[in-house]
Amino acid sequence: MAELAGVSVRTLHHYDQIGLVQPSARTAVGYRAYSADDVERLREVLAYRRLGFGLREVADLVGDRSTDAITHLHRLRGLLMERRDHTDAMVAAINRELEARAKGVTVSPEEQLGMLGAQLYDAIGGDYTATRRTDPRIAAQIWDGLGDAQTVLNVGAGTGSYEPYDRDVTAVEPSAVMRAQRPAGSAPCMAAVAESLPFADQSFDVAMAVSTVHHWRDPIGGLREMRRVARRVVVLTFDAGEPGWQDRFWLTRDYLPEFGDLLADFPSLAAMAEPIGAVAEPVPIPWDCTDGLFEAYWRRPRAYLQDHVRRAVSTWTRVGQEAERRAVRRLSDDLTSGKWAERNRDLADLDATDLGLRLLIA
Ligand SMILES: C[S@@+](CC[C@H](N)C(=O)[O-])C[C@H]1O[C@@H](n2cnc3c(N)ncnc32)[C@H](O)[C@@H]1O
Repeated sequence: MAELAGVSVRTLHHYDQIGLVQPSARTAVGYRAYSADDVERLREVLAYRRLGFGLREVADLVGDRSTDAITHLHRLRGLLMERRDHTDAMVAAINRELEARAKGVTVSPEEQLGMLGAQLYDAIGGDYTATRRTDPRIAAQIWDGLGDAQTVLNVGAGTGSYEPYDRDVTAVEPSAVMRAQRPAGSAPCMAAVAESLPFADQSFDVAMAVSTVHHWRDPIGGLREMRRVARRVVVLTFDAGEPGWQDRFWLTRDYLPEFGDLLADFPSLAAMAEPIGAVAEPVPIPWDCTDGLFEAYWRRPRAYLQDHVRRAVSTWTRVGQEAERRAVRRLSDDLTSGKWAERNRDLADLDATDLGLRLLIA
């Protein structure tokens, strides 16, 4: 048994002594005899141990009588996939940091440690500008919202999309990889997070944030911070509060329902608007939107089959590789069979559509 399981005889004896895996029988000469059920239990114990659980935690996990072998397998599979995603993200983050260093970008101690948590945009943001460019129609609506403000703080600024050219802009962005892609001559950008803005009260006429609030650890706290440092606030975000919102967009409805789970804890639009005293206006997405956000290709479904399009949108990384592969495969099949076109016939004549994007203006 020790040989089969790749552990020492001593380990098996120890598991027996502490009651973790006790063989159901002994042979006439006193050897431990493992039944099929014992083997199953040993496999679970070893798998949880290799995932880093302590002996006591493993004892609780495998000792739970309400959990059968299938549930353990599902749980183990989920944990392993999470670990794989994390490893992938960390490798990508290391590659990005190497690239940033090669370009001479300074990487602060906070960012170096942040990499251990594989900060999402350090991992996935390396090719952001290939598909995520300022859309002029969405920009016009955001800039309209800025009114006559002269000093502007852009929070979660990324590579600088939607920063107005005719005002005094300061940017804040925690990811070194994103900061490194800001075009030469763009507004000065500091490494900081929305939840703790390094500015005195009322330092700016307006604070803006575009497509970033759903990444913040504390969205409401970040919005309050924006309100503290600026007299006005303009935020492009997403309404995931209305019942049935997941069905607004065919991609979420028919191929990637996991998107709904990602936003399960995201505050409703009203919960975000209230603390900063904002009103919300819909932001229609043009059919040829040049900012490749998640919903951008609602009338150009083939775009979602391209890896670089998906990589510039965090949703695809966050749902996990299995959901991503399944969604892409099904979409590809439906495009080939004509099922997608049949189901979404009414989209063909639309120039723009409302998929839940909202501009909060306070
Ligand atoms: C989808 S990008 C949007 C970037 C840019 N605003 C745009 O419209 O292209 C989201 C950005 O939010 C940043 N971010 C993540 N967590 C943040 C936080 N707590 N505070 C501020 N920005 C954050 C990410 O690093 C990333 O650059």
